[in-house]
Amino acid sequence: MIRSTHRLAGTIFGIMTLVPLLFAQQPATQNSGAVLKIQTDTSVAQVSPSLYGLMTEEINHSYDGGIYAELIRNRAFQDNLNHPDHWRILRDGDARASMMIDKSTGPSTALTSSLKLTVQRADNDNPAGIVNNGYWGIPLRPNTTYVGSFYAKVDHDSSGPVTMSLVNNNTGAVIATASVPTLASQWKQYKVALQTGQIAASSSNHLVLTVAQQGTVWFSLVSLFPPTYDNTPNGNRIDLMEKLAAMHPAFLRLPGGNYLEGDHIAERYRWKQTLGPLVDRPSHPSPWGYRSSDGLGLLEFLEWCQDLHMQPVLAVYAGYSMAQEHVTPGPELAPYVQSALDEIEYVSGGPETKWGAVRAKDGHPAPFPLTYVEVGNEDEFDKSGSYDARFAQFYDAIKKTYPKLQVIATAPVKRRTPDVIDDHFYRTAQEFFEDTHHYDKTDRKGPKIFVGEWATREGSPTPDMGAALADAAWLTGLERNSDIVIMSSYAPLFINVNPGASQWVPDLIGYDALQSYGSPSYYAQVMFSSHIGNEVPASTLSGAPQLMFTSVTRDTSKRMLYVKVVNASSKAQSLEIQLTGKDKPAGTAALTTLGGHSTAETNSLADPTRIVPVQSDINDVSSDWRHAIPPYSIQVIDVTLQ
Ligand code: AHR
Repeated sequence: MIRSTHRLAGTIFGIMTLVPLLFAQQPATQNSGAVLKIQTDTSVAQVSPSLYGLMTEEINHSYDGGIYAELIRNRAFQDNLNHPDHWRILRDGDARASMMIDKSTGPSTALTSSLKLTVQRADNDNPAGIVNNGYWGIPLRPNTTYVGSFYAKVDHDSSGPVTMSLVNNNTGAVIATASVPTLASQWKQYKVALQTGQIAASSSNHLVLTVAQQGTVWFSLVSLFPPTYDNTPNGNRIDLMEKLAAMHPAFLRLPGGNYLEGDHIAERYRWKQTLGPLVDRPSHPSPWGYRSSDGLGLLEFLEWCQDLHMQPVLAVYAGYSMAQEHVTPGPELAPYVQSALDEIEYVSGGPETKWGAVRAKDGHPAPFPLTYVEVGNEDEFDKSGSYDARFAQFYDAIKKTYPKLQVIATAPVKRRTPDVIDDHFYRTAQEFFEDTHHYDKTDRKGPKIFVGEWATREGSPTPDMGAALADAAWLTGLERNSDIVIMSSYAPLFINVNPGASQWVPDLIGYDALQSYGSPSYYAQVMFSSHIGNEVPASTLSGAPQLMFTSVTRDTSKRMLYVKVVNASSKAQSLEIQLTGKDKPAGTAALTTLGGHSTAETNSLADPTRIVPVQSDINDVSSDWRHAIPPYSIQVIDVTLQ
């Protein structure tokens, strides 16, 4: 019997408000005859401690315009070398000015072009300048300090000032402003602090750089950062990091995905070009139709891992790009293999090693823990059939230098036995419902399994309740088999929901410049990963209706049993739960429920907490009790064992 119900959404993010919910009014329950028998004191498998993790890549503005906190779009004017995309000219009053890309000068060997602003006439009352609207707006919050910076040079010494301002789109009000008094004729970086006052939080703002006199100014790397997660410079957006932290991820698969491979070999992810000062990063075209700033580079990925206590699952470029281009195995592939070895050393080598020293110079002397290296991505799409030989070449080199590293293959191979195989599943809800036993019979002597990308592709832009039910059903199968399925990660993780920002739906977490929300599937995954334990006890589900799924795990040190049930049908169902074994239930249990009224129901920016976990207690837990499962619901029952 359910004793009380509370909304849980707040507690996930540390807010303790408990709002009573109408969930307590259960609809009539069908006695399905389903029985879940659990032998509480047995263990048929260990739960993989790394079962739940994250997959990430630059897609749907996941980094630029997403988790990477930079607010200025096309900050280094590299998106289009013929036009300053996402910038416009400002001419107040009778100011006269023009702007263009200048390919002849830039602040570094990586950024060899810049924006040239030519001002024929301007004064304090009639300034001229350039304007950036950010990634679908610039989010500003009250009483907050923003760090502005830019590289610039002028056509004669002591020209200035240049003023950076944050301006409301609707009212024209200047929300924050700061000036650099003089500029030099050589490239130099300038920094300002921009402080907001008592404003309402809004993303209807733009950035303006203005001058008030005649002359020419070249700009590059115009940047604006809000406070970041853990106050990390060049860091990540706080709300998105908090949402990820609530998932308790064990790993981050990086940097892709298609993003690793690029459409062409020349457009592959070149990790060495993502290191060091931002001015030394040239940026690169991504396969998802826009250029990546690489502000979130390899070290930033690793710091992201560190912040959330995850290990990187390092995917190395393996000589295949998606326009059916591949590097011939053998001597031609050798430099790519060496690059992967260098990358592994950058991540995990001591500061005395060549690439560990580079990492130390970049600000992180301590090596990062590394267990898994993945060779390529979805190499079954390489129609040349070269992956078998490419994988063998990478495998041998990695194992020779790093015998303890676990090497993941992305497609079936014959010449070597990979430690782990990466399987991907993009499915309909029905397909997942029918395949929850996918790994039940997998050969336990073969490679371990990493379900590196999976999702029910229903709902847009984020999965709806129906997708969450299928996702949860799928996860019950992964949990039951987590002796062989050692890792899993939903994909894609992020979507900027603004029109034109995305290339793939659905995605787990949605956001615009100011706000974010978790989909029902996000909350299902939070529930599963927060209640996992370390062992799978023996359990059998019999007499269950078609759309009922279960998984049982236990935490031996906490003496907790976690019973997960999914009822994907439109009818409430009853489930008899029988506990046998010497570990007896203590009498009460905590119940977490994620439920919807229909499969189409969902969360959105406008209604971010429509479907969230609700917590209640069950006070009649015994060795044989009948539990009612609401329609369209996912539940986790925490049974304390005596
Ligand atoms: O998750 C989106 C894409 O799906 C990934 O980039 C790729 O690996 C897969 O095909």
